[in-house]
Amino acid sequence: MARTTVYLIYLLALPFSYGYNGDSFELECPDECDCHYFRINWVTDCSESNLTSIPYDELSLSVYILDLNGNNITSLQRFPNDIKMRRLQIANNRLTRVDRDAFKGLDYLIDIDLSGNNISYVDPEAFLDSHGLLNVELQDNPLNMIEGPFLMSSTLQYLDISNCNLSIINSQFFDNITSLTTLDLSNNPLISLEGDVFNVLTSLETLKINDCKLNIITGNLFSSLINLKNLEMAGNDLSNINWPEVLGTLTRLEYLNLRKSGLTSLSEDTFSNCTNLVTLILAENELRDLDVAVTLGNSVNHLEVLDLSNCKIKGPISGDAFANATRMKSLYLSGNPLFAPDLQEALAPLPKLEKLFLSNCGLSNLPDNFNVFENLLELDISHNPLVNVFTRLLAPLEKIEYLNMGYSNLSYIGPETFAHMTSLKKLVLSGNDLLSLEAGLFGNLTQLTALELEFCGLKRPINANAFFKNLTYTDLREIKLGGNPLVIPPTGPLFPKQLSQVTVLDLSNCNITSLNPDAFKNTENLTELNLASNQIKAEDESLLFLETLRHLEKINLSNNNLTTIDPQLFVNNPKLHSINLIGNPFICDCKIAEMWDWANMIKGDLDVLIGAKSAEKDIVVKGNKKKKYLYCHYNEAQLRNMTIITNKTVPGRRPFVKPREWTYANRTWAKYVRESGCEPVVKILRPVALIADFFDESHGRNISTPALILAVMALALGLGTVIMTLRLFQKRQVSEMDTENNRKQR
Ligand SMILES: *[C@@H]1O[C@H](CO)[C@@H](O)[C@H](O)[C@H]1NC(C)=O
Ligand SMILES: *[C@@H]1O[C@H](CO)[C@@H](O)[C@H](O)[C@H]1NC(C)=O
Ligand SMILES: *[C@@H]1O[C@H](CO)[C@@H](O)[C@H](O)[C@H]1NC(C)=O
Ligand SMILES: *[C@@H]1O[C@H](CO)[C@@H](O)[C@H](O)[C@H]1NC(C)=O
Ligand SMILES: *[C@@H]1O[C@H](CO)[C@@H](O)[C@H](O)[C@H]1NC(C)=O
Ligand SMILES: *[C@@H]1O[C@H](CO)[C@@H](O)[C@H](O)[C@H]1NC(C)=O
Ligand SMILES: *[C@@H]1O[C@H](CO)[C@@H](O)[C@H](O)[C@H]1NC(C)=O
Ligand SMILES: *[C@@H]1O[C@H](CO)[C@@H](O)[C@H](O)[C@H]1NC(C)=O
Ligand SMILES: *[C@@H]1O[C@H](CO)[C@@H](O)[C@H](O)[C@H]1NC(C)=O
Ligand SMILES: *[C@@H]1O[C@H](CO)[C@@H](O)[C@H](O)[C@H]1NC(C)=O
Ligand SMILES: *[C@@H]1O[C@H](CO)[C@@H](O)[C@H](O)[C@H]1NC(C)=O
Ligand SMILES: *[C@@H]1O[C@H](CO)[C@@H](O)[C@H](O)[C@H]1NC(C)=O
Repeated sequence: MARTTVYLIYLLALPFSYGYNGDSFELECPDECDCHYFRINWVTDCSESNLTSIPYDELSLSVYILDLNGNNITSLQRFPNDIKMRRLQIANNRLTRVDRDAFKGLDYLIDIDLSGNNISYVDPEAFLDSHGLLNVELQDNPLNMIEGPFLMSSTLQYLDISNCNLSIINSQFFDNITSLTTLDLSNNPLISLEGDVFNVLTSLETLKINDCKLNIITGNLFSSLINLKNLEMAGNDLSNINWPEVLGTLTRLEYLNLRKSGLTSLSEDTFSNCTNLVTLILAENELRDLDVAVTLGNSVNHLEVLDLSNCKIKGPISGDAFANATRMKSLYLSGNPLFAPDLQEALAPLPKLEKLFLSNCGLSNLPDNFNVFENLLELDISHNPLVNVFTRLLAPLEKIEYLNMGYSNLSYIGPETFAHMTSLKKLVLSGNDLLSLEAGLFGNLTQLTALELEFCGLKRPINANAFFKNLTYTDLREIKLGGNPLVIPPTGPLFPKQLSQVTVLDLSNCNITSLNPDAFKNTENLTELNLASNQIKAEDESLLFLETLRHLEKINLSNNNLTTIDPQLFVNNPKLHSINLIGNPFICDCKIAEMWDWANMIKGDLDVLIGAKSAEKDIVVKGNKKKKYLYCHYNEAQLRNMTIITNKTVPGRRPFVKPREWTYANRTWAKYVRESGCEPVVKILRPVALIADFFDESHGRNISTPALILAVMALALGLGTVIMTLRLFQKRQVSEMDTENNRKQR
């Protein structure tokens, strides 16, 4: 009877599965583009599609985001009237001008990205019709000299004109964009900034003038920037600046970056008015004789981060230096050539420090007064040529929570080194040639949550002896083993039982060609597994280990040797919501379409497949200019047949407006699925069929509980399908009416 029920459910589900719509298509979408909803917004993604002009007549008037990044577009015409576009991205094309006409009627435009073109002229009135304009990106264009106001927009808040070959900012430049809150002028050969150029920018909060060859700044340059919070002036030549005057009015400043700016000395009152400073970066200046105590005085008592990396500091730093900087948490002394005895002296007066960064200081020895750091929680001594025996000097750091000893030339770590660090949460030992780990090395680290052993030359994953046998490490959740040339055993689990609570595992770059089905038997509660940049192939059952990982949520298989992939592999991973398959040599065949339909219809979200469509980070302001997509490639015979195939219309897939010839073999999955002619597949419903397998003759008439549960699930799935199909059908009807109306209107 049970058997009949199951078959009945299966049969019920069957007819509806044909209604699957491989690609939802509610609004118009040009042939070359992939369109989809992002939240409720219609995204038309035509990026990296070899376009030489904009397909104006195929655009939906309701397009919200139009992405044309990375094409060969040389000029713009007018967009259709009444287009409701909010965000327009034309980065990395070959535009030469921004004329008023092209942007006429774009009343709704909020963001525009024109970076990385060949633009020399921008009409100041270009965006006058866009009354809600907020963001303009024009970086990386060879702009001509600007006379008078640069742009007119009373709403503009964000302007990036970095790397635009500007040598002069005239005094009217910002007169008509006074609402700016963020301005990036970096990488322009400005040399000097004088007078009142910034005076109108009273709302400005972030100003970046990095790498501008700046040498001259007048004292009152920032005097009107009363709201400035972040100021970056790295990579200039600011040796002769009257800092007390230049910074004197910036009382709200929280972040100041003066990295590599030719500073050699700083007077006592440099920061005396910057009482809200939280982060101060003075790295890469030759501040040999900096008197931290005097310069930071008692004004900077909000300071949390002080970066003095690569400052050729001779030390010792005076004992009172941080007496009043009670909130000072992080001190970066990385990159200063230090000797243990000097360091010892320098650090002695800093008992309150919480985070100390001594990376790349040429230390071969360590100071032996770590016992003064009662409050030290984080210590970074990475990238020092440490000699093995000195690791014992770390022993007094009993409260430490984060310890980074990466890339420190260690080949052996004494078994007692971490014995008393019972509070340690994160330990980084990456980049040391640790061919083996001492027995009991991690034994006492019962609070450990993360362990990093990347690029340690390990052939075998962590051996059980490093931990105590009588304990389970219940907090240990994350292990990173990337970059080790692991030799994977043909059978049996990779990790010892002590690591059974690990949920995040990184095995990227480990020269793995295949994994046995039991590889993760002792770590079956994994939720995130990173297998990127290995050489895993689709054959040889090398992905069967997935069956044991029932809690898996994310898997990264990017940059492997997969030529095909089957949604059946993921049948036992119901929580899976992120699969990264980018960078594999997939062959274009109907398996790709099957995978696509599975993500879209069974998982109900194409975002499950990373790179199937543009992600949020690609379409937000300042987002990616170059994306990573899922690709497959045709073989030559397929390519020759393409014109015929593209004429085939498959129910449920978006039909083409104009047939066209393909001349290249690499296709994004999105494009392939459309042109493939692959029928939406019933097979993707196989979980239902699996239920039938449950009813062996041996079970007799008893219905097992799991079988019942599965049957109910199957019924729900069937119902879900019906509902989804009906909804899609409705939507399609509505949209067809819509587009017809639109055409009539035109
Ligand atoms: C664009 O065209 C070139 C040459 O015609 C081809 O090599 C390349 O793969 C194409 N790129 C895309 C994304 O279609
Ligand atoms: C686009 O421009 C690139 C770089 O100049 C060129 O290699 C490519 O062939 C062009 N593609 C088309 C379709 O014009
Ligand atoms: C531009 O700014 C100037 C000076 O503030 C003002 O006179 C002019 O009306 C502004 N133009 C526009 C179009 O806002
Ligand atoms: C620093 O702040 C004081 C008190 O607010 C003020 O009198 C002084 O003019 C400021 N210094 C500069 C250079 O603006
Ligand atoms: C720290 O503050 C006290 C009182 O606020 C002051 O007397 C002392 O000079 C300050 N020390 C330094 C190094 O600024
Ligand atoms: C582990 O820590 C405990 C308590 O701090 C200590 O008594 C014991 O000696 C440590 N074990 C080892 C192997 O050092
Ligand atoms: C576990 O075993 C180690 C030695 O293998 C021993 O030092 C430790 O005290 C034992 N801990 C417990 C909780 O039994
Ligand atoms: C990677 O594995 C292959 C065999 O699977 C082996 O020949 C090669 O030496 C390994 N590479 C490294 C860097 O260990
Ligand atoms: C996985 O987690 C569950 C629940 O937290 C637990 O009962 C089970 O023992 C864990 N599996 C392993 C191998 O530790
Ligand atoms: C995987 O692909 C790379 C690059 O195409 C190739 O060099 C390597 O030999 C392949 N590995 C295996 C195991 O097929
Ligand atoms: C190409 O198309 C022809 C005619 O439709 C068909 O017989 C042949 O199998 C196709 N070849 C490939 C490789 O798809
Ligand atoms: C494809 O369709 C177009 C328009 O419907 C037609 O002109 C063309 O002949 C068709 N091509 C093939 C190979 O059937």
